[in-house]
Amino acid sequence: MSSALWAELKQLAQQPLSLRQQFAADPKRAEKFQVNACGIHLDFAKNLITDGIWQKLLELAKQSQIQSKTQQMLHGDKINNTEQRAVWHMALRADTKTPLVLDGVDLQPEIQACHAQMAELIGQLHQGSYKGYQGDAITDLIWIGIGGSLLGPQMACEALAPFNKSPVRIHFAGNIDGAVVSDVVKGLNPATTLVFVASKSFGTEETKQNALAVRQWFTDKGADKAAIAQHFWATSSNIKAAAEFGIVAEHILPMWDWVGGRYSLWSAIGFPVALQLGMEQFQQLLKGARDMDQHFINAPLEQNMPVILALLGVWYINAKGCQAQALLPYSHYLRFLPSYVQQLDMESNGKGVDLDGKPLTDATAPVIWGDAGTNGQHAYHQLLHQSALAVPSDFILPAKVSHELNDHHHRLAAHCFAQTQALMQGKTFDEAKAEVLASGASEAEAIALAPHKVSPGNKPSNTLLLPELSPYYLGALIALYEQKVFCQGVLWNINSFDQWGVELGKQLSTPIYQVLSDQQKNNFDASTEALIAKFKQLNLG
Ligand code: F6P
Repeated sequence: MSSALWAELKQLAQQPLSLRQQFAADPKRAEKFQVNACGIHLDFAKNLITDGIWQKLLELAKQSQIQSKTQQMLHGDKINNTEQRAVWHMALRADTKTPLVLDGVDLQPEIQACHAQMAELIGQLHQGSYKGYQGDAITDLIWIGIGGSLLGPQMACEALAPFNKSPVRIHFAGNIDGAVVSDVVKGLNPATTLVFVASKSFGTEETKQNALAVRQWFTDKGADKAAIAQHFWATSSNIKAAAEFGIVAEHILPMWDWVGGRYSLWSAIGFPVALQLGMEQFQQLLKGARDMDQHFINAPLEQNMPVILALLGVWYINAKGCQAQALLPYSHYLRFLPSYVQQLDMESNGKGVDLDGKPLTDATAPVIWGDAGTNGQHAYHQLLHQSALAVPSDFILPAKVSHELNDHHHRLAAHCFAQTQALMQGKTFDEAKAEVLASGASEAEAIALAPHKVSPGNKPSNTLLLPELSPYYLGALIALYEQKVFCQGVLWNINSFDQWGVELGKQLSTPIYQVLSDQQKNNFDASTEALIAKFKQLNLG
């Protein structure tokens, strides 16, 4: 971020810019700042950019290594340099005819075999022919995993709930909070429950602990070793650890070294989604993502949706000093999308050093947060509208809905568009005063109340319109954010595919656990010592 171009952009960011005036001065602004990809429409006209700023940002993209790094990723180069791994999640959604040769091995047969295994199990579960240890059909599936092994399938299952055609109910268990597993097994019958342990490493504490608890629940209910083998499946790249846990080889779906956890929805980690939708519709999810990949690879930079989102992001983070970004899906079904993108973006790009290990001087990933609209309008939108903080926001709206209440949907859409409009244009003192006067107040009352009603406006937003929330468009939407995150990683010259920062907390929890469970004595800082003592006193009390 030290180029002359960046210096220029940082200077431009200091100059006043009124979005109201920009729209008034340029009738073609909305037409200019919009783009379509895979049926998704992006309106980015309500951003704090002028033609000049936008040209400079595009210049930044041209000068960057986005295109060459994309080629390296496609060729399977080990661009995850700290772990010496290729970054090949795109292969999982590639056309079946595309040869996928990595380190001299064609992976297409392995990927197809995995899909075939998923299809076979899904067929059996849908037909009720996969029998439990007492000869009953399976009615419930517990999916145990965390982070990338849970957020994607959980989000996509919720997003595509109207497409559910599976007789098997799916329950997700991620957190090590015992309340999760206790609640999940409540009311379930082990004889009709299938369990999937989803862990690339098969070493994640939360997943192991929850898997052990569920296995214990099986044995407590009378299941023996053979029954466990019949009911437990895994998706993992650590076959040995899965086998040691008691999962038979035929029940282990592959995970590959070249797929990062947060990019693994397209692998067997997507099993719950495939189970819910059927394999055909799961393929549509992959196709949507594949088409977005093709758009990203082939579209010129100025029409390239992931590149555009990435440039706007760095403009706000690095030139305008914004530290947060809101993700506001106007769709109940997309309510888990912000949590999913949180991991995707913050775990990928929340880094402190560049590819060579040199400390970064500029900020990287924003704090991603959000929830489904219109709920947020009655909670945190107040801050978005009137506080001094500028939080660039992505509004996401499917145009067509699967339910019957289309008038509800018109109202939902009206709120979505009204929010972006209100954020952009705000309300001036004179407008606020006129409004108060029109309600019958005196001049003095209007002058007193008007400042409270002023909204500064000039708050940037993108609006993404999806034709509908189908497997295809969801796939395209997720791939859009994946590629945006990739581009930003390139612009910041960081490794978006490792996550060393999460290790320290994991390491430190072990000695604390040993003290809490009276296995060992350890010394900590005074605050931690005091907290442990207080916790133990209350925990036992
Ligand atoms: O939180 C760290 C992390 O390694 C994530 O990147 C990953 O998605 C998650 O833990 C789960 O890992 P695993 O699939 O190996 O259990």
